[in-house]
Amino acid sequence: MNYDNVMKLALERGFYFPSCEVYGDSQAGFWEYGPNGVSIKNKFLELWRQQLVRRDRMLEIDGSQIMSKSVFEASGHLGNFADPIVKCKECKSTFRADKLIVDASEVEIPENSDLNEFDNVIKEKAISCPKCNGSLDNTKKFNMMFKVGIGPEEEEAYLRPETCQSIFVDFPRLFKTMRGKLPIGIAQVGKSFRNEIAPRQSLLRLREFYQAEIEVFCNPNKLDVLDKFSEIENTTLRIQNEQEVVTVTCKQAVESGIIPNKFVAYYLGLLSEFYEKTGIDMNKSRFRKLGEKEKAFYAEVAFDFEVETTIGWLELVACNYRSDYDLSSHAKKSKEKFEVMDNDEKVLPHVFEISMGIDRSLYCVLEHGYRDDKENERVVLSIRPYLAPVHVGILSLVKKDGLAEKTNDVYLNIKTKFDSFLDHAGAIGRRYRRLDEIGAPFAITIDHQTKDDDTVTIRSRDSMSQDRVKIKDLEEILSKETRFP
Ligand code: GLY
Repeated sequence: MNYDNVMKLALERGFYFPSCEVYGDSQAGFWEYGPNGVSIKNKFLELWRQQLVRRDRMLEIDGSQIMSKSVFEASGHLGNFADPIVKCKECKSTFRADKLIVDASEVEIPENSDLNEFDNVIKEKAISCPKCNGSLDNTKKFNMMFKVGIGPEEEEAYLRPETCQSIFVDFPRLFKTMRGKLPIGIAQVGKSFRNEIAPRQSLLRLREFYQAEIEVFCNPNKLDVLDKFSEIENTTLRIQNEQEVVTVTCKQAVESGIIPNKFVAYYLGLLSEFYEKTGIDMNKSRFRKLGEKEKAFYAEVAFDFEVETTIGWLELVACNYRSDYDLSSHAKKSKEKFEVMDNDEKVLPHVFEISMGIDRSLYCVLEHGYRDDKENERVVLSIRPYLAPVHVGILSLVKKDGLAEKTNDVYLNIKTKFDSFLDHAGAIGRRYRRLDEIGAPFAITIDHQTKDDDTVTIRSRDSMSQDRVKIKDLEEILSKETRFP
């Protein structure tokens, strides 16, 4: 199983595919979800809501994708949200400097390093243009935000590069109208936009992508006062420590100082429990503390949640302690008040963020669930039943002898309760295999015996075993097997 297998499955079975693909001017870095992709994405997000938003009584909002220039002047994105780029003097091709250098020389330079660090390595290693071998110009910064013009006057605004800016800007209203109390989490799912220089690998580096972000506002003087910490104190975290990954409980992580306080450990614990339930192999995951030059410009402390795949480690979640960076900047620029009362104390809250990349997470669910079952000549997407795009296939063994009508009746009773797929066409073995490939955990088959005793067979995707059950029991069986944990 590897990236190419997942890509083939995604393209052939309606998970995802390139945007505007019938046109020659379609742009890289834009992908679309097909029906199976949307279905798994919706379920993944429902699990996220259940395990994080509802569990922690967070508030969920849905903000604008286009935001005014002032927002990004205050947030620092207009000044700082830039990648280092280098241009070929001859053929004028542009490259990301850090990527070009690592590909040519294996020297890793963090993307936020001073520009002359890139130029020095390019000179020392005599790196030239990978396309034409021409000499390279000096490294420059390229701002990754997409600018848009509003109305006939084309007033300057931007597509948001992260969803969370509306959470920060909306914070005073939300805290007041929702009778907020610190600590309080505010969550949002939606699209963000980044003008990546080198988009690649389908869902893994996109120019338009889904984020599910949570910003937790807290009193910075109370980072170790958290009653609910006991809920996760025994949850394990895998943390990169020097060269090795150590497995520690949240409690041990705080006591040993690997995680700075209970507040951060609590949210890393929730995140860990969430990913466990997505079916991603947690033995291939780690939290990694970022170095000074790896962190985003707004982060005081940052941990990435990373997962190992066949194409290397992928960052799925950025966990940033943003301190009061955003609220104080927006307060200063807008002249609004962002302080709130925490009992008798007036505080400008600090923020800890859990910024999840949805597209990458879905890729990992697919890759870790992909099985090439050679013995049975099938590909199986062995994902958790509650995330499966189709819960159940409903199949007639043959169409004749009234079985098609009986199958349609079973389908009619089930289709509004579960994601169901009705299939009369072709050899039964091939129909089972098609369902296996899209991860459907169950297939129900209506056969001649059904007409005599109102029973059907129910086949399990992973074991391929079949049981005979009564039609009237199907709803209860499927509910039990596909319900969220
Ligand atoms: N909000 C953090 C990020 O987009 O990475």
